[in-house]
Amino acid sequence: MSISKGKHKCIAIFALVCCCAVLIALIFSAVDVWGDDEDDIAEGKCSSACRVVLVENIPEDLSIPYKDTVSLAAGLHELLDQAHRSVEIVSPWWALNSTEYESKPPQAKQVTPNILQCQHLCAEVHYLNMKALIKGQLNSSFWVVDRKHMYIGSAGMDWRSLSTMKELGIIIYNCSCLVLDLHKIFSLYWQLQYKDFLPSIWSKKLNALYNRDNNLQLHLNDTEAKAYYSSSPDVFCLKKRTKDLEAINRVIQEAETFIYISITNYLPISSNGIVYWSRIDNMLREALILKKSIEVRLLISCWEQTDPLTLNFLWSLKALCTESVRCSVEVKFFIPQKQSNGDLYGMNHNRYMVTDRSVYIGNLNWVGNEFVYSAGVGMVISQQVEQNNSTVVERMKAVFERDWHSHYSKTLQPNKIPACNFIFFLKNTLFTFNYKGKHVW
Ligand SMILES: *[C@@H]1O[C@H](CO)[C@@H](O)[C@H](O)[C@H]1NC(C)=O
Ligand SMILES: *[C@@H]1O[C@H](CO)[C@@H](O)[C@H](O)[C@H]1NC(C)=O
Ligand SMILES: *[C@@H]1O[C@H](CO)[C@@H](O)[C@H](O)[C@H]1NC(C)=O
Ligand SMILES: *[C@@H]1O[C@H](CO)[C@@H](O)[C@H](O)[C@H]1NC(C)=O
Ligand SMILES: *[C@@H]1O[C@H](CO)[C@@H](O)[C@H](O)[C@H]1NC(C)=O
Ligand SMILES: *[C@@H]1O[C@H](CO)[C@@H](O)[C@H](O)[C@H]1NC(C)=O
Repeated sequence: MSISKGKHKCIAIFALVCCCAVLIALIFSAVDVWGDDEDDIAEGKCSSACRVVLVENIPEDLSIPYKDTVSLAAGLHELLDQAHRSVEIVSPWWALNSTEYESKPPQAKQVTPNILQCQHLCAEVHYLNMKALIKGQLNSSFWVVDRKHMYIGSAGMDWRSLSTMKELGIIIYNCSCLVLDLHKIFSLYWQLQYKDFLPSIWSKKLNALYNRDNNLQLHLNDTEAKAYYSSSPDVFCLKKRTKDLEAINRVIQEAETFIYISITNYLPISSNGIVYWSRIDNMLREALILKKSIEVRLLISCWEQTDPLTLNFLWSLKALCTESVRCSVEVKFFIPQKQSNGDLYGMNHNRYMVTDRSVYIGNLNWVGNEFVYSAGVGMVISQQVEQNNSTVVERMKAVFERDWHSHYSKTLQPNKIPACNFIFFLKNTLFTFNYKGKHVW
Protein backbone atom coordinates (compact mmCIF):
# COMPACT_ATOMS: atom_id res chain seq x y z
CA MET A 1 0.00 0.00 0.00
CA SER A 2 2.62 2.51 1.09
CA ILE A 3 4.87 1.37 -1.73
CA SER A 4 2.20 2.11 -4.31
CA LYS A 5 1.55 5.52 -2.70
CA GLY A 6 5.27 6.31 -2.91
CA LYS A 7 5.26 5.25 -6.54
CA HIS A 8 2.41 7.64 -7.32
CA LYS A 9 4.23 10.43 -5.54
CA CYS A 10 7.31 9.68 -7.64
CA ILE A 11 5.33 9.78 -10.83
CA ALA A 12 3.67 13.05 -9.84
CA ILE A 13 7.02 14.69 -9.06
CA PHE A 14 8.49 13.38 -12.29
CA ALA A 15 5.56 14.79 -14.24
CA LEU A 16 5.95 18.13 -12.49
CA VAL A 17 9.65 18.28 -13.29
CA CYS A 18 8.91 17.43 -16.92
CA CYS A 19 6.30 20.18 -17.11
CA CYS A 20 8.72 22.71 -15.68
CA ALA A 21 11.42 21.69 -18.14
CA VAL A 22 9.05 22.05 -21.08
CA LEU A 23 7.89 25.43 -19.80
CA ILE A 24 11.45 26.71 -19.40
CA ALA A 25 12.34 25.48 -22.87
CA LEU A 26 9.29 27.28 -24.28
CA ILE A 27 10.18 30.53 -22.53
CA PHE A 28 13.72 30.43 -23.85
CA SER A 29 12.73 29.64 -27.40
CA ALA A 30 10.34 32.60 -27.33
CA VAL A 31 13.15 35.02 -26.39
CA ASP A 32 14.36 36.52 -29.60
CA VAL A 33 18.05 37.17 -29.09
CA TRP A 34 18.78 40.19 -31.30
CA GLY A 35 21.62 39.73 -33.66
CA ASP A 36 21.71 35.95 -33.37
CA ASP A 37 20.99 35.46 -37.06
CA GLU A 38 24.41 36.93 -37.90
CA ASP A 39 26.58 34.59 -39.90
CA ASP A 40 29.32 33.09 -37.89
CA ILE A 41 32.44 34.58 -39.31
CA ALA A 42 35.70 32.74 -39.53
CA GLU A 43 38.08 35.04 -37.70
CA GLY A 44 40.99 32.67 -38.20
CA LYS A 45 41.03 33.06 -41.96
CA CYS A 46 40.96 36.83 -42.06
CA SER A 47 43.48 39.16 -43.64
CA SER A 48 45.49 41.78 -41.75
CA ALA A 49 47.88 42.88 -44.48
CA CYS A 50 46.02 46.06 -45.31
CA ARG A 51 46.32 49.17 -47.49
CA VAL A 52 45.36 52.52 -46.10
CA VAL A 53 44.48 55.75 -47.87
CA LEU A 54 43.65 59.10 -46.29
CA VAL A 55 40.79 60.87 -48.06
CA GLU A 56 39.84 64.53 -47.89
CA ASN A 57 37.33 66.86 -49.36
CA ILE A 58 38.82 70.30 -49.82
CA PRO A 59 36.43 72.80 -51.43
CA GLU A 60 37.79 74.06 -54.74
CA ASP A 61 37.85 77.70 -53.70
CA LEU A 62 40.06 76.99 -50.71
CA SER A 63 43.75 77.39 -51.46
CA ILE A 64 44.81 74.31 -49.52
CA PRO A 65 46.65 71.51 -51.35
CA TYR A 66 45.96 67.80 -50.84
CA LYS A 67 48.75 66.46 -48.65
CA ASP A 68 49.42 62.89 -49.79
CA THR A 69 45.68 62.45 -49.54
CA VAL A 70 43.15 61.40 -52.15
CA SER A 71 39.94 63.29 -52.85
CA LEU A 72 37.02 61.87 -50.90
CA ALA A 73 34.95 61.45 -54.03
CA ALA A 74 37.66 59.46 -55.82
CA GLY A 75 38.34 57.42 -52.69
CA LEU A 76 34.72 56.43 -52.13
CA HIS A 77 34.33 55.66 -55.81
CA GLU A 78 37.34 53.36 -55.67
CA LEU A 79 35.96 51.72 -52.54
CA LEU A 80 32.62 51.09 -54.23
CA ASP A 81 34.44 49.57 -57.18
CA GLN A 82 35.85 46.88 -54.89
CA ALA A 83 32.35 45.71 -53.91
CA HIS A 84 31.38 42.22 -54.98
CA ARG A 85 28.94 41.12 -52.30
CA SER A 86 27.84 43.89 -50.02
CA VAL A 87 28.08 47.59 -49.32
CA GLU A 88 26.96 48.62 -45.87
CA ILE A 89 26.66 52.36 -45.30
CA VAL A 90 25.72 54.22 -42.16
CA SER A 91 25.11 57.93 -42.54
CA PRO A 92 23.28 60.59 -40.55
CA TRP A 93 22.14 62.17 -43.79
CA TRP A 94 21.12 61.04 -47.25
CA ALA A 95 21.11 64.14 -49.34
CA LEU A 96 23.19 63.65 -52.42
CA ASN A 97 21.04 65.96 -54.51
CA SER A 98 21.29 69.60 -53.89
CA THR A 99 18.51 71.99 -54.82
CA GLU A 100 21.23 74.45 -55.78
CA TYR A 101 22.88 71.65 -57.69
CA GLU A 102 23.76 73.76 -60.70
CA SER A 103 25.67 76.38 -58.72
CA LYS A 104 27.99 73.86 -57.04
CA PRO A 105 31.55 73.08 -58.11
CA PRO A 106 31.93 70.46 -60.86
CA GLN A 107 33.52 68.07 -58.38
CA ALA A 108 30.14 67.38 -56.87
CA LYS A 109 28.48 66.96 -60.23
CA GLN A 110 30.81 64.24 -61.36
CA VAL A 111 30.59 62.41 -58.16
CA THR A 112 26.97 62.24 -57.28
CA PRO A 113 25.86 59.82 -60.00
CA ASN A 114 28.77 57.53 -59.20
CA ILE A 115 27.88 57.35 -55.55
CA LEU A 116 24.28 56.75 -56.47
CA GLN A 117 25.28 53.62 -58.34
CA CYS A 118 24.90 51.68 -55.13
CA GLN A 119 21.18 51.99 -55.71
CA HIS A 120 21.59 49.57 -58.61
CA LEU A 121 22.84 46.91 -56.23
CA CYS A 122 20.00 45.32 -54.37
CA ALA A 123 19.67 48.02 -51.74
CA GLU A 124 17.87 47.64 -48.47
CA VAL A 125 17.49 50.68 -46.24
CA HIS A 126 16.78 50.59 -42.54
CA TYR A 127 15.73 53.78 -40.79
CA LEU A 128 16.43 53.97 -37.10
CA ASN A 129 14.27 55.76 -34.58
CA MET A 130 17.14 57.17 -32.54
CA LYS A 131 14.91 59.59 -30.63
CA ALA A 132 13.12 56.61 -29.06
CA LEU A 133 16.19 54.40 -28.67
CA ILE A 134 18.76 56.76 -27.21
CA LYS A 135 17.04 60.18 -27.09
CA GLY A 136 19.65 61.36 -29.56
CA GLN A 137 20.80 61.26 -33.16
CA LEU A 138 22.57 58.83 -35.37
CA ASN A 139 25.78 60.67 -36.20
CA SER A 140 27.73 57.59 -37.24
CA SER A 141 29.31 57.71 -40.64
CA PHE A 142 31.10 54.68 -42.02
CA TRP A 143 31.13 52.11 -44.83
CA VAL A 144 31.79 48.38 -44.76
CA VAL A 145 32.41 46.81 -48.17
CA ASP A 146 32.42 43.02 -48.56
CA ARG A 147 33.30 42.89 -44.87
CA LYS A 148 36.92 43.56 -45.73
CA HIS A 149 37.22 47.16 -46.87
CA MET A 150 36.05 50.18 -44.93
CA TYR A 151 35.68 53.94 -44.72
CA ILE A 152 35.30 56.03 -41.59
CA GLY A 153 35.36 59.79 -41.35
CA SER A 154 33.64 63.09 -40.96
CA ALA A 155 31.74 63.01 -44.25
CA GLY A 156 28.25 61.57 -44.45
CA MET A 157 26.20 61.01 -47.57
CA ASP A 158 25.52 64.67 -48.00
CA TRP A 159 26.36 66.61 -51.17
CA ARG A 160 28.00 69.29 -49.02
CA SER A 161 30.54 66.72 -47.83
CA LEU A 162 31.60 66.29 -51.44
CA SER A 163 31.57 69.97 -52.28
CA THR A 164 31.58 72.85 -49.79
CA MET A 165 32.70 71.17 -46.54
CA LYS A 166 36.25 70.34 -45.55
CA GLU A 167 36.23 66.66 -44.63
CA LEU A 168 38.73 63.97 -43.67
CA GLY A 169 38.44 60.21 -43.53
CA ILE A 170 40.34 56.94 -43.75
CA ILE A 171 39.79 54.11 -46.22
CA ILE A 172 41.31 50.72 -45.48
CA TYR A 173 41.43 47.88 -48.01
CA ASN A 174 41.91 44.13 -47.66
CA CYS A 175 41.58 44.14 -43.93
CA SER A 176 38.91 41.59 -43.03
CA CYS A 177 40.31 40.95 -39.53
CA LEU A 178 39.64 44.55 -38.57
CA VAL A 179 36.61 45.26 -40.72
CA LEU A 180 34.66 42.28 -39.35
CA ASP A 181 34.51 44.19 -36.11
CA LEU A 182 33.05 47.28 -37.79
CA HIS A 183 30.54 45.02 -39.49
CA LYS A 184 29.42 43.96 -36.01
CA ILE A 185 28.60 47.57 -35.16
CA PHE A 186 26.71 47.83 -38.44
CA SER A 187 24.77 44.66 -37.54
CA LEU A 188 23.84 46.11 -34.19
CA TYR A 189 22.30 49.14 -35.92
CA TRP A 190 20.67 46.89 -38.52
CA GLN A 191 18.76 45.00 -35.82
CA LEU A 192 17.17 48.19 -34.56
CA GLN A 193 14.89 48.97 -37.47
CA TYR A 194 11.28 49.57 -36.33
CA LYS A 195 12.36 49.13 -32.72
CA ASP A 196 11.67 51.76 -30.12
CA PHE A 197 13.45 50.07 -27.25
CA LEU A 198 16.78 48.32 -26.77
CA PRO A 199 16.85 44.60 -25.94
CA SER A 200 18.08 43.34 -22.59
CA ILE A 201 19.95 40.51 -24.31
CA TRP A 202 22.08 40.91 -27.41
CA SER A 203 23.62 38.01 -29.25
CA LYS A 204 27.22 37.20 -28.35
CA LYS A 205 27.97 37.45 -32.06
CA LEU A 206 27.73 41.25 -31.81
CA ASN A 207 30.37 41.49 -29.07
CA ALA A 208 33.55 43.37 -29.90
CA LEU A 209 36.53 41.43 -31.26
CA TYR A 210 39.10 44.07 -30.32
CA ASN A 211 39.26 46.94 -27.85
CA ARG A 212 41.66 49.31 -26.13
CA ASP A 213 43.20 46.50 -24.05
CA ASN A 214 43.27 44.03 -26.91
CA ASN A 215 44.20 45.81 -30.14
CA LEU A 216 44.41 44.03 -33.44
CA GLN A 217 48.00 43.78 -34.69
CA LEU A 218 48.03 44.45 -38.40
CA HIS A 219 50.05 45.87 -41.26
CA LEU A 220 49.04 49.13 -42.89
CA ASN A 221 50.97 49.66 -46.12
CA ASP A 222 53.61 47.19 -44.89
CA THR A 223 54.11 49.12 -41.65
CA GLU A 224 53.23 47.48 -38.34
CA ALA A 225 50.24 48.99 -36.59
CA LYS A 226 47.63 48.33 -33.93
CA ALA A 227 43.97 49.25 -34.26
CA TYR A 228 40.50 48.95 -32.75
CA TYR A 229 37.07 50.59 -32.92
CA SER A 230 35.14 52.45 -30.27
CA SER A 231 31.47 53.36 -30.08
CA SER A 232 28.91 55.71 -28.52
CA PRO A 233 26.60 56.04 -26.64
CA ASP A 234 27.24 53.64 -23.76
CA VAL A 235 24.15 51.52 -24.43
CA PHE A 236 25.55 50.67 -27.87
CA CYS A 237 28.80 49.38 -26.39
CA LEU A 238 28.13 45.68 -26.06
CA LYS A 239 30.49 43.37 -24.24
CA LYS A 240 34.19 44.24 -24.67
CA ARG A 241 33.48 47.25 -26.89
CA THR A 242 35.50 50.32 -25.90
CA LYS A 243 33.49 53.53 -25.48
CA ASP A 244 34.53 56.54 -27.57
CA LEU A 245 35.48 58.48 -24.46
CA GLU A 246 37.65 55.63 -23.18
CA ALA A 247 39.41 55.51 -26.52
CA ILE A 248 39.99 59.27 -26.49
CA ASN A 249 41.26 59.02 -22.93
CA ARG A 250 43.69 56.25 -23.79
CA VAL A 251 45.07 58.16 -26.78
CA ILE A 252 45.56 61.29 -24.67
CA GLN A 253 47.17 59.33 -21.83
CA GLU A 254 49.62 57.60 -24.13
CA ALA A 255 50.76 60.77 -25.86
CA GLU A 256 54.25 61.86 -24.89
CA THR A 257 55.13 64.97 -26.82
CA PHE A 258 52.11 66.37 -28.63
CA ILE A 259 48.32 66.16 -28.95
CA TYR A 260 46.82 67.84 -32.02
CA ILE A 261 43.03 68.05 -32.22
CA SER A 262 40.98 69.12 -35.22
CA ILE A 263 37.31 69.40 -34.40
CA THR A 264 34.30 71.48 -35.47
CA ASN A 265 32.93 72.22 -32.00
CA TYR A 266 34.50 72.03 -28.56
CA LEU A 267 32.09 72.56 -25.66
CA PRO A 268 32.15 70.79 -22.26
CA ILE A 269 28.44 71.36 -21.68
CA SER A 270 25.60 68.90 -22.11
CA SER A 271 21.82 68.60 -21.78
CA ASN A 272 21.43 71.75 -23.81
CA GLY A 273 23.44 73.98 -21.60
CA ILE A 274 22.45 72.91 -18.10
CA VAL A 275 25.12 70.34 -17.17
CA TYR A 276 28.88 70.88 -17.02
CA TRP A 277 30.25 67.91 -18.90
CA SER A 278 33.90 67.85 -18.02
CA ARG A 279 35.09 64.49 -19.35
CA ILE A 280 37.30 65.55 -22.24
CA ASP A 281 38.19 68.91 -20.71
CA ASN A 282 39.51 67.04 -17.66
CA MET A 283 41.54 64.63 -19.78
CA LEU A 284 43.30 67.55 -21.45
CA ARG A 285 43.90 69.35 -18.15
CA GLU A 286 45.31 66.19 -16.62
CA ALA A 287 47.64 65.68 -19.59
CA LEU A 288 48.82 69.30 -19.42
CA ILE A 289 49.58 69.19 -15.71
CA LEU A 290 50.99 65.69 -15.37
CA LYS A 291 52.98 65.21 -18.55
CA LYS A 292 56.34 66.86 -18.90
CA SER A 293 56.17 69.65 -21.46
CA ILE A 294 53.37 68.31 -23.62
CA GLU A 295 52.22 70.43 -26.53
CA VAL A 296 48.46 70.65 -27.14
CA ARG A 297 46.98 72.27 -30.23
CA LEU A 298 43.26 72.69 -30.87
CA LEU A 299 41.96 73.64 -34.29
CA ILE A 300 38.30 74.54 -33.97
CA SER A 301 35.73 76.04 -36.29
CA CYS A 302 34.47 79.46 -35.55
CA TRP A 303 31.25 80.59 -37.15
CA GLU A 304 27.88 82.04 -36.37
CA GLN A 305 26.71 78.99 -34.45
CA THR A 306 29.78 78.60 -32.29
CA ASP A 307 28.71 78.86 -28.67
CA PRO A 308 30.54 81.80 -27.06
CA LEU A 309 31.21 79.68 -23.98
CA THR A 310 33.66 77.74 -26.14
CA LEU A 311 35.98 80.75 -25.83
CA ASN A 312 35.79 80.80 -22.04
CA PHE A 313 36.70 77.13 -21.82
CA LEU A 314 39.58 77.56 -24.23
CA TRP A 315 40.94 80.61 -22.44
CA SER A 316 40.71 78.68 -19.20
CA LEU A 317 42.61 75.77 -20.72
CA LYS A 318 45.32 78.11 -21.95
CA ALA A 319 45.61 79.70 -18.52
CA LEU A 320 46.83 76.38 -17.07
CA CYS A 321 50.24 76.63 -18.64
CA THR A 322 52.57 79.17 -17.07
CA GLU A 323 56.25 79.50 -16.25
CA SER A 324 55.88 77.01 -13.41
CA VAL A 325 53.77 74.47 -15.31
CA ARG A 326 55.76 73.89 -18.44
CA CYS A 327 53.17 72.91 -20.99
CA SER A 328 51.78 74.54 -24.05
CA VAL A 329 48.21 75.03 -25.30
CA GLU A 330 47.61 76.77 -28.57
CA VAL A 331 44.17 77.38 -30.03
CA LYS A 332 43.34 78.42 -33.57
CA PHE A 333 40.05 78.92 -35.33
CA PHE A 334 39.63 77.61 -38.84
CA ILE A 335 37.37 80.23 -40.33
CA PRO A 336 34.97 79.23 -43.11
CA GLN A 337 34.67 81.56 -46.08
CA LYS A 338 31.56 83.24 -47.42
CA GLN A 339 30.53 82.78 -51.04
CA SER A 340 29.13 85.74 -52.94
CA ASN A 341 25.60 84.36 -52.37
CA GLY A 342 26.22 84.28 -48.61
CA ASP A 343 26.68 80.49 -48.30
CA LEU A 344 29.62 79.24 -46.29
CA TYR A 345 32.31 77.03 -47.75
CA GLY A 346 35.40 75.52 -46.23
CA MET A 347 33.74 74.67 -42.94
CA ASN A 348 36.26 72.43 -41.16
CA HIS A 349 34.17 69.37 -40.43
CA ASN A 350 37.18 67.24 -39.38
CA ARG A 351 36.96 65.16 -36.22
CA TYR A 352 40.29 63.65 -35.33
CA MET A 353 43.15 63.77 -32.91
CA VAL A 354 46.73 62.87 -33.70
CA THR A 355 49.51 62.37 -31.19
CA ASP A 356 53.12 61.23 -31.41
CA ARG A 357 51.88 57.64 -31.21
CA SER A 358 48.27 57.35 -32.34
CA VAL A 359 45.42 58.65 -34.39
CA TYR A 360 41.80 58.77 -33.22
CA ILE A 361 39.26 59.43 -35.93
CA GLY A 362 35.62 59.66 -34.91
CA ASN A 363 32.14 60.74 -35.92
CA LEU A 364 31.27 63.02 -33.01
CA ASN A 365 31.92 66.63 -32.16
CA TRP A 366 33.63 67.19 -28.83
CA VAL A 367 30.47 68.42 -27.25
CA GLY A 368 28.84 66.84 -24.19
CA ASN A 369 25.46 66.28 -25.81
CA GLU A 370 26.89 64.25 -28.63
CA PHE A 371 28.83 61.80 -26.45
CA VAL A 372 25.90 61.36 -24.08
CA TYR A 373 23.12 60.94 -26.63
CA SER A 374 24.39 60.49 -30.18
CA ALA A 375 25.44 57.30 -31.87
CA GLY A 376 28.94 57.46 -33.30
CA VAL A 377 31.91 55.26 -34.07
CA GLY A 378 35.61 55.90 -33.66
CA MET A 379 38.82 54.18 -34.70
CA VAL A 380 42.23 54.24 -33.06
CA ILE A 381 45.41 53.42 -34.98
CA SER A 382 48.76 53.31 -33.18
CA GLN A 383 52.12 53.07 -34.92
CA GLN A 384 55.81 53.53 -34.32
CA VAL A 385 56.80 56.71 -36.06
CA GLU A 386 59.21 55.95 -38.93
CA GLN A 387 60.56 59.49 -39.47
CA ASN A 388 60.01 59.26 -43.22
CA ASN A 389 56.33 60.32 -43.28
CA SER A 390 55.20 56.85 -44.29
CA THR A 391 52.87 55.96 -41.41
CA VAL A 392 49.24 57.02 -41.06
CA VAL A 393 50.13 58.81 -37.84
CA GLU A 394 52.81 60.89 -39.58
CA ARG A 395 50.55 61.56 -42.53
CA MET A 396 47.75 62.80 -40.28
CA LYS A 397 50.18 65.00 -38.44
CA ALA A 398 51.27 66.51 -41.74
CA VAL A 399 47.63 67.17 -42.68
CA PHE A 400 47.04 68.83 -39.32
CA GLU A 401 50.12 71.00 -39.68
CA ARG A 402 49.11 72.07 -43.17
CA ASP A 403 45.75 73.32 -41.85
CA TRP A 404 47.31 74.83 -38.74
CA HIS A 405 49.68 76.96 -40.80
CA SER A 406 47.15 77.85 -43.50
CA HIS A 407 45.96 81.44 -43.62
CA TYR A 408 42.39 80.34 -42.80
CA SER A 409 43.53 79.50 -39.26
CA LYS A 410 43.54 82.42 -36.84
CA THR A 411 45.06 82.35 -33.38
CA LEU A 412 42.75 82.81 -30.39
CA GLN A 413 43.72 86.11 -28.74
CA PRO A 414 43.53 86.59 -24.98
CA ASN A 415 40.22 88.20 -24.00
CA LYS A 416 39.39 89.11 -27.57
CA ILE A 417 36.24 87.77 -29.15
CA PRO A 418 36.87 86.68 -32.72
CA ALA A 419 34.61 88.38 -35.25
CA CYS A 420 33.24 85.13 -36.66
CA ASN A 421 31.36 84.66 -33.43
CA PHE A 422 29.60 87.95 -33.36
CA ILE A 423 26.00 87.21 -34.30
CA PHE A 424 25.50 84.35 -31.92
CA PHE A 425 27.33 86.17 -29.18
CA LEU A 426 24.93 89.09 -29.31
CA LYS A 427 21.92 86.78 -29.22
CA ASN A 428 23.25 84.89 -26.29
CA THR A 429 24.10 88.00 -24.35
CA LEU A 430 20.57 89.26 -24.77
CA PHE A 431 19.26 85.96 -23.52
CA THR A 432 21.48 86.00 -20.46
CA PHE A 433 20.52 89.52 -19.51
CA ASN A 434 16.82 88.90 -19.98
CA TYR A 435 17.11 85.81 -17.88
CA LYS A 436 18.55 87.77 -15.02
CA GLY A 437 15.85 90.36 -15.46
CA LYS A 438 18.34 93.15 -16.07
CA HIS A 439 18.49 95.60 -18.89
CA VAL A 440 22.01 96.64 -19.55
CA TRP A 441 21.48 98.61 -22.76
C1 LIG B 1 18.99 63.52 -58.15
O1 LIG B 1 19.45 64.16 -59.29
C2 LIG B 1 19.52 63.33 -60.44
C3 LIG B 1 20.16 64.09 -61.59
O2 LIG B 1 20.22 65.45 -61.33
C4 LIG B 1 18.10 62.85 -60.79
O3 LIG B 1 18.14 61.99 -61.91
C5 LIG B 1 17.52 62.11 -59.60
O4 LIG B 1 16.19 61.73 -59.84
C6 LIG B 1 17.57 62.96 -58.34
N1 LIG B 1 17.20 62.15 -57.21
C7 LIG B 1 16.37 62.57 -56.26
C8 LIG B 1 16.10 61.59 -55.17
O5 LIG B 1 15.87 63.67 -56.27
C1 LIG C 1 43.47 43.51 -52.17
O1 LIG C 1 43.96 42.21 -52.34
C2 LIG C 1 43.72 41.68 -53.63
C3 LIG C 1 44.15 40.23 -53.64
O2 LIG C 1 45.28 40.03 -52.88
C4 LIG C 1 44.48 42.51 -54.65
O3 LIG C 1 44.25 42.03 -55.93
C5 LIG C 1 44.00 43.95 -54.56
O4 LIG C 1 44.75 44.76 -55.42
C6 LIG C 1 44.14 44.48 -53.15
N1 LIG C 1 43.51 45.79 -53.06
C7 LIG C 1 44.17 46.87 -52.67
C8 LIG C 1 43.41 48.15 -52.70
O5 LIG C 1 45.34 46.84 -52.29
C1 LIG D 1 24.75 65.11 -34.88
O1 LIG D 1 23.40 65.29 -35.12
C2 LIG D 1 22.87 66.53 -34.70
C3 LIG D 1 21.42 66.54 -35.02
O2 LIG D 1 21.18 66.05 -36.30
C4 LIG D 1 23.55 67.68 -35.39
O3 LIG D 1 23.08 68.89 -34.86
C5 LIG D 1 25.03 67.56 -35.15
O4 LIG D 1 25.70 68.56 -35.85
C6 LIG D 1 25.50 66.20 -35.60
N1 LIG D 1 26.89 66.10 -35.36
C7 LIG D 1 27.70 65.63 -36.24
C8 LIG D 1 29.07 65.47 -35.75
O5 LIG D 1 27.36 65.35 -37.38
C1 LIG E 1 57.80 64.86 -43.37
O1 LIG E 1 56.81 65.87 -43.40
C2 LIG E 1 57.20 67.07 -42.78
C3 LIG E 1 56.00 67.99 -42.75
O2 LIG E 1 55.27 67.92 -43.89
C4 LIG E 1 58.38 67.66 -43.55
O3 LIG E 1 58.78 68.85 -42.94
C5 LIG E 1 59.52 66.65 -43.54
O4 LIG E 1 60.57 67.13 -44.33
C6 LIG E 1 59.06 65.32 -44.08
N1 LIG E 1 60.13 64.33 -43.90
C7 LIG E 1 60.50 63.50 -44.84
C8 LIG E 1 61.59 62.58 -44.48
O5 LIG E 1 59.98 63.48 -45.95
C1 LIG F 1 60.30 54.31 -43.80
O1 LIG F 1 61.30 53.86 -42.93
C2 LIG F 1 61.16 52.50 -42.51
C3 LIG F 1 62.24 52.18 -41.52
O2 LIG F 1 62.87 53.32 -41.06
C4 LIG F 1 61.24 51.59 -43.73
O3 LIG F 1 61.03 50.24 -43.33
C5 LIG F 1 60.16 51.96 -44.71
O4 LIG F 1 60.26 51.19 -45.87
C6 LIG F 1 60.26 53.45 -45.07
N1 LIG F 1 59.12 53.80 -45.90
C7 LIG F 1 59.22 54.50 -47.00
C8 LIG F 1 57.95 54.77 -47.75
O5 LIG F 1 60.28 54.91 -47.40
C1 LIG G 1 49.53 53.37 -48.85
O1 LIG G 1 49.84 52.92 -50.14
C2 LIG G 1 49.02 53.44 -51.18
C3 LIG G 1 49.46 52.83 -52.49
O2 LIG G 1 49.41 51.45 -52.39
C4 LIG G 1 49.19 54.95 -51.23
O3 LIG G 1 48.34 55.48 -52.22
C5 LIG G 1 48.81 55.54 -49.89
O4 LIG G 1 49.02 56.93 -49.89
C6 LIG G 1 49.64 54.90 -48.79
N1 LIG G 1 49.11 55.37 -47.52
C7 LIG G 1 49.87 55.93 -46.58
C8 LIG G 1 49.19 56.37 -45.35
O5 LIG G 1 51.07 56.05 -46.70
